[in-house]
Amino acid sequence: MKIQWYPGHMAKAKRKMKEDLPLVDAIIEVIDSRCPNSSRNPEIDILAKDKARIMLFNKADLADPARTKSFMESFRKQGFYTMEMDARSRSSVKGVSKLVMESCAELLERKKQKGILSQSIKAMVLGIPNVGKSTFINAYVGKATAKTGNKPGVTKGAQWIKIGKDLQLLDTPGITWPKFEREIVGLNLALIGSINDEILPIEELIFYLLKYLTRYYGSALVSRYGETLQGKEDALEAMDAIAVKRACIKKGGDIDYTKVSRLILDDFRSGRLGRISLEHPMKWEEDSQMEV
Ligand code: G4P
Repeated sequence: MKIQWYPGHMAKAKRKMKEDLPLVDAIIEVIDSRCPNSSRNPEIDILAKDKARIMLFNKADLADPARTKSFMESFRKQGFYTMEMDARSRSSVKGVSKLVMESCAELLERKKQKGILSQSIKAMVLGIPNVGKSTFINAYVGKATAKTGNKPGVTKGAQWIKIGKDLQLLDTPGITWPKFEREIVGLNLALIGSINDEILPIEELIFYLLKYLTRYYGSALVSRYGETLQGKEDALEAMDAIAVKRACIKKGGDIDYTKVSRLILDDFRSGRLGRISLEHPMKWEEDSQMEV
């Protein structure tokens, strides 16, 4: 199943981002902790290679905590400054300024040695749709500055936001990329709500999710949907069992796959299935090759 989503306004936003890059010292990437690899725009590594890099692991409340910890460690080793957060909580985003300043410590030192007195830092905030970028900015700034919404891609055009006296943020619209190199990226982004739901083949998507869950999070299925899910290793059997349990049955007695798929997707997205990550920290190749 190939999923692609690259509306025209995102191509425009990317051009604008390229234009703005020379203006900033640091890049703050907001990602979804449930799938750090899939929810990053891989083009940023090429475009922003000489910038300080901060990666905010958002929606950590929904992700598997042990996996988030390992992911953060692995990105730290690659030179990123990382922090986990739940952007809906102001206390959770408190540490961001300190992290940005730490990431720019060398730059500030160089400025000082050149006699530049200003210790001001400019950072660009990036994130693909629905990772919680607007929620983060609102919580960070302390008032409803950035527009939030429940549809991917609603953030308005880029804007500067002042944080205290030493930090300015450049907010940018959510950007995805023209071609997902791996099938798993499209699937994961669809599952976390970063792709417009209207274009999704929902039953196939949930079939994939159940394949993944029966393999890695069987106990989450049992605790959400009951003992009938115990030991179910086949995704279709699991789907049928959930449909029966939750009365997703059509009038003639057939299973209503659309209804049960919506129910499972909703349970996953809201965290009712528990804290689940869609990727493994050290097994990106293995995850990517999972049969869909
Ligand atoms: P975006 O700018 O990156 O596109 O995303 P936005 O801030 O609009 O957030 C998308 C959805 O994710 C919102 O929910 C928001 O509340 C939720 N969200 C943001 N950060 C977190 C987090 O750390 N944890 C959890 N669990 N949810 C988070 P929504 O239902 O679409 O809208 P709303 O009804 O909450 O306003």
